Amino acid sequence: MLRSNNCGELRINDLNSQVSLCGWVHHIRDLGKLLFIDLRDRYGTTQIYFDANNKPELYQSAKKLGREYVIHVIGTVRERSNKNPKMPTGDIEIDVDTLKVLNTSEIPPFTIEDDTDGSEEMRLQYRYLDLRRNVMKDTMIFRHKLNLSIRNFLSEKGFLEIETPFLIKSTPEGARDFIVPSRLNPGNFYALPQSPQLLKQLLMFAGMDRYFQIVRCFRDEDFRADRQPEFTQLDCEMSFVEQDDILNLFEDMMRYLFRNLLDIDLPIFPRLTYKEAMETFGSDKPDLRFDMPIINLSDTLKGKGFKIFDNSEYIGGLLLINQPDVSRKQIDKLTEWVKNPQVGGSGLAYVRLVDNEIKSSITQFFSNDFLQNLMKSINASNNDTLFIISGNRNKSLEILGNLRLHLAKQYQLIQKNIYKPLWVIDFPMFDWDEENHRFTSSHHPFTSPLLSDIELLDSNPSLARSNAYDMVMNGAELGGGSIRIHDKFLQKKVFKLLNLTDQEAEDKFGFFLKALDYGAPPHGGIAFGIDRIVAVMLGLNSIRDVIAFPKNNMGRDLMMQAPAPVTADQLKELHLKIQ
Ligand code: AMO
Repeated sequence: MLRSNNCGELRINDLNSQVSLCGWVHHIRDLGKLLFIDLRDRYGTTQIYFDANNKPELYQSAKKLGREYVIHVIGTVRERSNKNPKMPTGDIEIDVDTLKVLNTSEIPPFTIEDDTDGSEEMRLQYRYLDLRRNVMKDTMIFRHKLNLSIRNFLSEKGFLEIETPFLIKSTPEGARDFIVPSRLNPGNFYALPQSPQLLKQLLMFAGMDRYFQIVRCFRDEDFRADRQPEFTQLDCEMSFVEQDDILNLFEDMMRYLFRNLLDIDLPIFPRLTYKEAMETFGSDKPDLRFDMPIINLSDTLKGKGFKIFDNSEYIGGLLLINQPDVSRKQIDKLTEWVKNPQVGGSGLAYVRLVDNEIKSSITQFFSNDFLQNLMKSINASNNDTLFIISGNRNKSLEILGNLRLHLAKQYQLIQKNIYKPLWVIDFPMFDWDEENHRFTSSHHPFTSPLLSDIELLDSNPSLARSNAYDMVMNGAELGGGSIRIHDKFLQKKVFKLLNLTDQEAEDKFGFFLKALDYGAPPHGGIAFGIDRIVAVMLGLNSIRDVIAFPKNNMGRDLMMQAPAPVTADQLKELHLKIQ
């Protein structure tokens, strides 16, 4: 071992010990005859010093050191005259006797500090430097502890961690596949798993009973702050279970993780149906850290002679409580925001109570008394503002959901460091794909309908609800799963509803359909996004900040410069031509 100690562990009771430390030069302070260096490694920082009066040669060598040089020092632990209570090692410093430079360093392109001056692009390009920053290092340590706690919890509950292959046949999860050409099988391709969905179901058929895996998944989809083309799932499956068994167990797991890692006791998770979530929060992943439910105003405001409302399928409102400073200008800006094509609204009406007087954009169409009564009926007080959206029902709910989040951000309604989990259940079985005029699975094709809705598959599939569930926290979908179909007849029926011919179903999933013939047990499961769990637990906005080597928002690895062209020889070997 080059070192006797790491840079985070020496304390006052180590005084006068001879120690040997290795690390990176973090800060250099040259006070003329005394040179101080903060020496950093994964465990912390220790101050070392070189005294020109006592050891002039050593001092001269130390003057040549630069930021991020890697050095090895041997010296004696001394008490600091100028103690730093903010540093765990702040009571001591090292009087260096021997200095060895293990490696030099270029000047880093950004500061290795929590509050770095590096742009995200720079940080991704020099990720090995970015990961030296404490915040990034602490996130990696947190992630390690999370994985370890998950493994402990699930092993205790009898789950087996089983690895499944990466080179497989496509398992659809609603994204495009990344495909890998086969050299040995010209013209044939593997797909990288979008998730191990079918494999974990097959493990249940194999009698493994309780499976989990912390596993990389690959999806070729458009990027967002909470999406990566490769990301990590905690993937789980259980046999002989019903929905309640899964929700209870994984709610317990989440509570265990929060207690273990953050010392926080999560409440019992409320369960909202998809319909309730959409009607109340305009989202299937509602952020419950602030109130402001959607108020259905259709009955109150329709049929009163205001054409826009009268012609609307739905009218809904949001009450922004006790904000005295909502100016006309702000309302104009909000209206503009609602109308921008990404939000897709046609307008925004408002009613405000200021000094108990009504201020509103719809006074031409509704009397003062009517609006006063409206505000009273929704328990509005002075300085409250009611925002109103009308139009197509689903679109209006979606806009209200987005507006709710927008208002929360703008008026800072979201408290920091709180966690509001919930389950969303009873999702629709199918979504209607307007463009291609067909149903798609709202979860995936292996999800069972609710028993009570099986008949609807024949009579009115668009109304059928599935036995699927999502775990949501602070407005992020942390995980999703379902009770699966284990009956071949039902599975074939669902494939048909998804517009797959028997032949297509056989070509894509023949192996799976065959397996259903050999005693497939009732089963269900769930998968969580580990990256999202870490981001939500640490209050970070982007999952890029919790992944050691993430892709940027164009799916590029800026450090390795991937994806990249391959040679003509490689293409030939793979029987590929670029057109
Ligand atoms: P689903 O597609 O809902 O379900 O994925 C499960 C969870 O994985 C995370 N996730 C992602 N995280 C980062 N980047 C992405 N591109 C990304 N896509 C998904 C989310 C999500 O909740 N096989 C099913 C699970 C099951 O039915 O058991 C599945 O993959 O947190």
